[in-house]
Amino acid sequence: MRQHTITIDTGKCIGCGLCKQDCPADNIEITNAKALVRKQDCLMCGHCVAVCPKAAVSISGFDEPPEEFAKQTILSPKELLAAIKTRRSIRRFKQEDIPDEVIRQIIEAGRFTPSAVNAQDVSYLVLKDGREKAEKMAVGLFRRLLPVASLFSKEARDRRDIAIDDHFFFKKAPAAIVIVSKTKVNGALAAANMALMAEANGLGVLYSGLFTIAVNVSGKLRRTLGLGRKQKAVTTLVLGYPDINYRRTAQRESANVRCQH
Ligand SMILES: Cc1cc2nc3c(=O)[nH]c(=O)nc-3n(C[C@H](O)[C@H](O)[C@H](O)COP(=O)(O)O)c2cc1C
Ligand code: SF4
Ligand code: SF4
Repeated sequence: MRQHTITIDTGKCIGCGLCKQDCPADNIEITNAKALVRKQDCLMCGHCVAVCPKAAVSISGFDEPPEEFAKQTILSPKELLAAIKTRRSIRRFKQEDIPDEVIRQIIEAGRFTPSAVNAQDVSYLVLKDGREKAEKMAVGLFRRLLPVASLFSKEARDRRDIAIDDHFFFKKAPAAIVIVSKTKVNGALAAANMALMAEANGLGVLYSGLFTIAVNVSGKLRRTLGLGRKQKAVTTLVLGYPDINYRRTAQRESANVRCQH
């Protein structure tokens, strides 16, 4: 992460204390009716910037200024739940390219996803033209490994008879995004938001756990993708416009919920 410095414009600050109350690290004090930042190695979460009624707080070192908004956008619960329930894993895609602007928007959804201790340790590898070579390598790997793995693993044994065709991982989709992070939960949360954003753009999504395994076990594939030895793929989103319509939800098991009062 880059170096960032928090500055309070004392000319603008009215000493209201909102930033102090909202700082999760107790890093702000009010002295002589002005806010004062205690140290510069805090979470850099930006709550102080976001909450100030006078735009008196700024943090340097970012490529963009904060965006002003009048109130938080709240999605319609009914629509959101319907979108979640009617979503399916898509494995049939139209041969239609995804505009770069849409890919950028999907990554933006990942970028603004929260991360533990605000680590922002998630990166994105977009596979468009390069996906065929990567898929070919992953297919070769799986054809070689599956018979061996099935000697040791029940999961692999269960999949032993699955035909690994040339489009086994990406299903002829026009793009995929490998989500890379050393913190699984941060990568997974980003992926979920990115999938929602993709679907809001009319795209279908397939999480490819199998391509993710291929990336993580094959140094050769990782090198081809330009990933370092220590970089771990958390998941892979296969993306394209769906060439299939679903008419009803798929049933799910009841939620396993316990309430302690
Ligand atoms: C983390 C994750 C990894 C997955 N990996 C694969 C995969 O490699 N190949 C595949 O065909 N489906 C994969 N799936 C799709 C699941 O099989 C699918 O979500 C599940 O069967 C439920 O179907 P639905 O997504 O249509 O509701 C994956 C799903 C998740 C959440
Ligand atoms: S929220 Fe803004 S105006 Fe209020 S004390 Fe903090 S810096 Fe000053
Ligand atoms: S960036 Fe976050 S942790 Fe740091 S002073 Fe502002 S509110 Fe507190």
